[in-house]
Amino acid sequence: MAIDLRSDTVTQPSQGMRDAISSAPVGDDVYGDDPTVNSLEERVAALFGMEAGLFSPTGSLANQLLIRQLVKPGEELLTEERAHIVRAELGAGAVFSGITTRTWHSERGLLNADTPLALAHENAGPYLVSTTAIAVENTHNFGGGTVQPITEIAKLSAAARERAIAMHLDGARIWNAHVASKTPFAEFGRHFDTISVCLSKGLGAPVGSISLGSKELIAQARIWRKRYGAGMRQVGLLAAAGHYALDHNIDRLAEDHARAKRIAIALAAHDASLINPAHVETNIVGLDLSATSMSAADFASRCKEAGLWVSALGKNYARLVTHLDFDDAQCDESISIMRKVLG
Ligand SMILES: Cc1ncc(COP(=O)(O)O)c(C=O)c1O
Repeated sequence: MAIDLRSDTVTQPSQGMRDAISSAPVGDDVYGDDPTVNSLEERVAALFGMEAGLFSPTGSLANQLLIRQLVKPGEELLTEERAHIVRAELGAGAVFSGITTRTWHSERGLLNADTPLALAHENAGPYLVSTTAIAVENTHNFGGGTVQPITEIAKLSAAARERAIAMHLDGARIWNAHVASKTPFAEFGRHFDTISVCLSKGLGAPVGSISLGSKELIAQARIWRKRYGAGMRQVGLLAAAGHYALDHNIDRLAEDHARAKRIAIALAAHDASLINPAHVETNIVGLDLSATSMSAADFASRCKEAGLWVSALGKNYARLVTHLDFDDAQCDESISIMRKVLG
């Protein structure tokens, strides 16, 4: 069996999760009748100290349902240049909501509040585009699983609110940020107007994200979810997987982080140009292959021949993501495969 480290989305639902799915009480969620969906939405909202939540099939939809409430057509959203919202949602904010984006660059996607604050231009008048929201990704996926410093988030949020600029958190992997930094969920909630979280990444559910915000905003997002064709019926089956994931799979993320760190330390010992292990804070290992003779695509295909799947996400950038179907023995084997491939 190949070892699959392309993403933390490749996991199989455990037997316990499948049992929870099969025994979930359900109803028609478009009528608001599904008790398992309703309790999951309320549970996640309460966890983050937000008023309301909305279940959706994907993190991309959760982000899009939220940012369209914050940014009107022709206004702008600022975010880091490798954020999922601008790199991997295929222009959805522009296509569906008329949202303009401008981006800033930061090493590893690490937030420095001054950078977006310098870029922001609220009330820019009839000649320039007005900034109405800033999105922060935590952890930052393409930045290498970076945990955003809560002090920078707090500073950005306070200044943005003074300037009437809304704050959105793409918290697809906020669980990893919480485990790595010990920041309480409600502390994240305090600094943002809207938050999206995913149950289908490190937490191992097959499907599911939750959009969070005020009651009024989520009521609007619910209308848009239906309009986009994502009003689902007895979807408590999937929400049950989300409940199970929250009950069982948050604290164990520390194991994924430890294995990612082990991989980084072993590869840095092999070739220090590949990675700085201090930069591996969560479950993502980003490898810089530019000083080797191999492209990321070559590296990925040679690893695959040897039984290890990794992602080639840039010319010289390969990504490995640890997850709940990856154990210590597979960690050893992955390291040994990569050492051989690197020569
Ligand atoms: C940071 C981040 N946000 C949002 C998403 C979107 O999630 P989905 O694939 O469920 O649309 C992802 C997916 O990998 C992600 O990494």
